Amino acid sequence: MIKQAAVYTGKAKTVYATDDPELFVMEYRDDATAFNGVKKAALDRKGKVNNYFNAHVMQVLEHQGIKTHFVKLLSDNESLVKKLDMIKVECVIRNVVAGGISKRLGIEEGMVLPEPTFEFFLKDDALGDPIINESHIHVFKWATDAEVTELKRKTFLVNDILKAWFATAGLTLVDFKLEFGRHHGELLLGDEFTLDGCRVWDAVTQEKFDKDRFRRDLGNVIEFYEAAAKRLGINIPE
Ligand code: C5P
Repeated sequence: MIKQAAVYTGKAKTVYATDDPELFVMEYRDDATAFNGVKKAALDRKGKVNNYFNAHVMQVLEHQGIKTHFVKLLSDNESLVKKLDMIKVECVIRNVVAGGISKRLGIEEGMVLPEPTFEFFLKDDALGDPIINESHIHVFKWATDAEVTELKRKTFLVNDILKAWFATAGLTLVDFKLEFGRHHGELLLGDEFTLDGCRVWDAVTQEKFDKDRFRRDLGNVIEFYEAAAKRLGINIPE
């Protein structure tokens, strides 16, 4: 497999074509951004920590029957993934109120929901990823009705798997965002699952182990990412 030109440069990852038209290389950079790119920093080791964290989570999900784009780790900062036709919507599940829903609906952060909520957002940086509903997805043909059903089913399944696993490590999975894409007629989990795209709190103290440490200037961002990984049994080489 030969790495070729960059085909997409995101806020924290760069995606490269390869000599195999079915495969991409995903490079995790040390860049951190928040508030739709307004706040930026380079955090030492972030790319490596996220690459190993994501690889482990994707493999756990695969073992539980969730098909993903992840193929294998290539290096400290790179993973090989299947090329997907990305669906332009983000799937968010919340188990506890925090962040966007707290601001949008005026509900205090920390309220444990009686059951998880599901939200769709449009993947569009220029618009600030607005919240959308199934009627929008249907009318604007961002996904078929059958795909919408599958997106929700798979995201709830991921929540069940990860919430239970994180709980065994004394961690509460507060919320998270997933993206999916089409691959030979199947919906595969794409993008990443890292502490950049979820909220994870200590189950007892509610201390934050996720990107809110960066967003809210709480400090020691990568130290907490590594501490969460260690609790979950995810090995990140020195
Ligand atoms: O900001 P909000 O509370 O709506 O985000 C919900 C969850 O989805 C958080 O864990 C956040 O990190 C994640 N998210 C993301 N990328 C986005 C929007 C939200 O990873 N574009």
